[in-house]
Amino acid sequence: MDSAKLILQGKEYELPIIVGSEGEIGIDISKLRAQSGAITLDPGYGNTGSCLSSITFIDGEKGILQYRGYPIEELARGARFVEVCHLLIYGHLPSENELTQFRDQLIHHSMIHEDMKKLFEGYPPTVHPMAVLSSMISSMSAYYPNSGNGEDVDLNIIRLLAKAKTFAAFSYKKSIGQPYVYPRNDLSYPGDFIHMMFAVPAEPYEVPPVLEDALNLLLILHADHEQNCSTSTVRMVGSSQANLFASMAGGVNALWGALHGGANQKVIQMLQMIYDDNEDYKKYIELAKDKSSDFKLMGFGHRVYKNFDPRALILKESSDKVLEQLGVDDPLLEIGRNLERIALEDEYFIERKLYPNVDFYSGIIYRAMGLPTNMFTVMFALGRLPGWIAHWKEMSEDPHGRIYRPRQIYTGETKRSLKPIHMR
Ligand code: COA
Repeated sequence: MDSAKLILQGKEYELPIIVGSEGEIGIDISKLRAQSGAITLDPGYGNTGSCLSSITFIDGEKGILQYRGYPIEELARGARFVEVCHLLIYGHLPSENELTQFRDQLIHHSMIHEDMKKLFEGYPPTVHPMAVLSSMISSMSAYYPNSGNGEDVDLNIIRLLAKAKTFAAFSYKKSIGQPYVYPRNDLSYPGDFIHMMFAVPAEPYEVPPVLEDALNLLLILHADHEQNCSTSTVRMVGSSQANLFASMAGGVNALWGALHGGANQKVIQMLQMIYDDNEDYKKYIELAKDKSSDFKLMGFGHRVYKNFDPRALILKESSDKVLEQLGVDDPLLEIGRNLERIALEDEYFIERKLYPNVDFYSGIIYRAMGLPTNMFTVMFALGRLPGWIAHWKEMSEDPHGRIYRPRQIYTGETKRSLKPIHMR
């Protein structure tokens, strides 16, 4: 099979077939409009491949997720987040030397320009940390304007990964009125973030290994997910040759929404709402099924995974362990477990293949770790940065790359003439 045939208004068109390395089949319609004048229509892009990519493979039916060929289960078990960053961005796991160098650079660049601290002062304490993160990342263009090719790009990638966790932790400290805690060179990437979040100057604070390991795992599971909404946004923005920081800020903003990364925050808000309503979770299951209501079970369902989300399976296992180690006894978690149990047995959810997704469990673990709810999506963004960077780099280095510019089918008024106002 090397082509597909399309018959349109009696005329036959032959369309090439592209087969991916895991056997995925795509019909190449890139010349269709030039040949036939027609376009394809696919609202929400559920059937549209926007690029060729060698970064991440997903088989939603079989619940497979692989970064550069490595199954997520193996990476979750045996890798550190910094290694995964290197893997995604540079295409291979680092050697010992490469890892040492990569880690050293990340440490070296984690401090932010002192002038940037002033930017935090302008926000009200109620600001959502996603707004701060996206504008700080965007502002990096002002401090590091030289985002040309070659070494500059690699240096800016390091700066971005290194400073994003500092921005995130500072935005939290600012929101609770505490002094900033500066990054420390002797800690791991997740360990340093936890230290900047929870330490208070002049008081000793040891990063609990259970928190460090849990965050390492969560960041790895967030790290990439091929052409999702935020990654496609990064590619879309970057396709106009916008710089790395501007493209990443676009990704942060796209991730923020409740149907994407914002779902982990919404999961906890939903559980709290059910708790406040006498823990009547059955009522909310019925509401989620009721088509006249716009209530959805947050943390359930996925565009791509239709049997299970492999990341959710990993997190489900680890959430019990983490909660036990932390000695957390939280009534919201019990409600979460009940929702999960009932939804998995209910015809509505079974028929539509709606299973708990990564945000369901990540919200629960972040809460148990003591992170404030409005930081959950920020954690997702920190984890997703290497994926966004890898896609931005792949797109920018593609010699055949073009600006992203979808078409549309126009359904508005046909041509009409303007009448002067007194004649209307
Ligand atoms: N609760 C209740 N019903 C849901 C649902 C949920 N969380 N998610 C999907 N459905 C229903 C839809 O109403 C639709 O029902 P219908 O066929 O009777 O009309 C059906 O399941 C298919 O859903 P659809 O919205 O077409 O799927 P999608 O691929 O466009 O959307 C999500 C995927 C993830 C956006 C969607 O499942 C959702 O909103 N989930 C909650 C938010 C969330 O957890 N997001 C994080 C994703 S990692």
